[in-house]
Amino acid sequence: MRYSALSSLLLTAALAVASPTVVKRANPQGIDISNYQGTVDFNTVKANGVSFVYIKATEGTTFIDSYFSSHYVGATNAGLIRGAYHFAHPDSSSGATQANYFLAHGGGWSSDGITLPGALDIEYNPSGAECYGLSASSMVSWIRDFSNTYQSATGVYPVIYTTTDWWTTCTGNSASFASTNPLWIAHYASSIGTLPAGWAYTTFWQYADSGADPGDQDEFNGSLQGLKNLALG
Ligand SMILES: *[C@@H]1O[C@H](CO)[C@@H](O)[C@H](O)[C@H]1NC(C)=O
Repeated sequence: MRYSALSSLLLTAALAVASPTVVKRANPQGIDISNYQGTVDFNTVKANGVSFVYIKATEGTTFIDSYFSSHYVGATNAGLIRGAYHFAHPDSSSGATQANYFLAHGGGWSSDGITLPGALDIEYNPSGAECYGLSASSMVSWIRDFSNTYQSATGVYPVIYTTTDWWTTCTGNSASFASTNPLWIAHYASSIGTLPAGWAYTTFWQYADSGADPGDQDEFNGSLQGLKNLALG
């Protein structure tokens, strides 16, 4: 998740001029983490009231997160609902190739009530052309290829993590995944803001890049039972 830096600057700036409002969050809370967080004390995270964790597994077809296994095992042993995510590099290989790489390195899914559908993290290019040099229609095709490959292998569609800004710019604000793929929006503010076309609501909301627990701070839009249902497929 690389959305962090600019938004946290903006958030800091916003908090400097307005007194912060404490938002009471009743929905199931979560975090998302990668090797950047290093070792995580999942028992403390669980004791703090966190219900779920998304854990970075892969990037493109060349990067396996060195902490993925220990994070996944640790989260499982602490009794957390957990899932894996893949950072997309749509300029380096096809959606199907990257979905298969993700599936082969921790991104799989089973209907056990504790495994969330794998998430496709698709957002700002950390090191190159805007929209990875793809046209909006090529980007939609790439996401379609990833999503269909993942669904064929697991029976569920991947969650799509993005920002409304990136999605609007790089997919032409495509509405064609809204009826199949759960949405996970990064938006560091006290309300969710405008969503991409088609989705009437977001399933997950990444609302801050730091907080009481390690990693980015997230919430599930629903009840704990709703979260478990997502993990049942
Ligand atoms: C959460 O989902 C409900 C529908 O289930 C929707 O009305 C609401 O706007 C959603 N909240 C967000 C932040 O998307």
